Amino acid sequence: MTKIAVLKESAKGETRVAASPETVKKYVSLGAEVAVEKGAGEAASVSDADFKEAGASIGAKAAALKGADIILGVQGPDPKALKGMAKGAWLVAGLDPFGQRARVDEYAKLGVKALAMEFMPRITRAQSMDILSSQSNLAGYKAVIDAASTFGRAFPMMMTAAGRIDAARCFVMGVGVAGLQAIATARRLGAQVSATDVRPETAEQIESLGAKPIFDDDLASDGEGGYAKELTKEQQAKQAELVSGHIAKQDIVITTALIPGRPAPRLISDAQIKTMKPGSVIFDLAVAQGGNVEGSEPDKVVEKHGVKIMGHSNTPTHLAADASALFARNLYNFLSAYWDKEADGPVLPDDDEVTIGIRLTKDGKVVNERLLG
Ligand code: NAI
Repeated sequence: MTKIAVLKESAKGETRVAASPETVKKYVSLGAEVAVEKGAGEAASVSDADFKEAGASIGAKAAALKGADIILGVQGPDPKALKGMAKGAWLVAGLDPFGQRARVDEYAKLGVKALAMEFMPRITRAQSMDILSSQSNLAGYKAVIDAASTFGRAFPMMMTAAGRIDAARCFVMGVGVAGLQAIATARRLGAQVSATDVRPETAEQIESLGAKPIFDDDLASDGEGGYAKELTKEQQAKQAELVSGHIAKQDIVITTALIPGRPAPRLISDAQIKTMKPGSVIFDLAVAQGGNVEGSEPDKVVEKHGVKIMGHSNTPTHLAADASALFARNLYNFLSAYWDKEADGPVLPDDDEVTIGIRLTKDGKVVNERLLG
């Protein structure tokens, strides 16, 4: 019988958990045994009793890991903490392979089969397994909610007996999964929304959400797999020119731009911040990857020229219950898709696009092309 261990997250500030009572029940129906480390779901409002009722056993880390064939995590555990698991156990988590490269080597040495869920290829059949999408969507929502609560004014236009309040203007920079949700959320709150990206196909998506696209054809920069490429120096200057006048009129700016495996592109300079009205708020969703905004600092509200610049080091942890439920489903959707009844557990074919994308280590070696190339 395949044993699945669900560990309590050990990274600072991590509130999520990699399984939910719903997915525990489903793993049990597949024929697996699930062992949850005591208190693993506490910070995400899931009690040990909830997990137990769903069919899991609850125990200390050592008991959960003992003989485990699959270890589930939100973030990668410290390799030193992985004692007692079965030989060749799978580690299925967001492993931050570029940021935690040394750890990947250690997982290889331990003989762990490390599977980095953030490397899930962006193909239709893997959409339901994509942790980046499920977590970015919630992050885009939360960024707008937190910016709105820091903003000293209202979002919607209001006609009151005391007079009119104008709608807030909100500008979203980077229209991937987080940006699209940020646009939708700001619109729902009643703001006047505009947005920009370097992938031209996003213009239509922005319009379909009722926002105004801010675009320049010379900035087109489509990369591989649906991701953006880094802009050239000339393009960067052109982008600064395009958005400078626009930013000066905004109350709220949400930045979400990322380039896989690279530091986040700088989108807003201190000089541009200086042109904004005092009281405006910028939420930098890329702050943990180096930041889109000059001067932004993780988990701080920095005030520059009367403008508040904010950003969380890990935004989904601020919505731990929903973020965990979706993350847990992503992992279940992945494992169940590869579950082989005869093998009584999941089997990953070597030539499968998903295997090639997410597998970091095999037979004691690092094998992932994105890490080696
Ligand atoms: P991301 O998190 O890597 O980047 C966020 C956004 O920033 C992207 O839209 C990117 O084009 C933009 N950006 C990068 N550099 C920029 C710059 N200098 N200025 C302005 N914007 C910049 O992207 P995310 O959210 O992961 O999505 C990328 C694409 O992948 C989307 O089209 C999404 O729909 C697609 N996707 C496909 C999936 C599938 O088919 N399985 C799953 C998830 C996403």
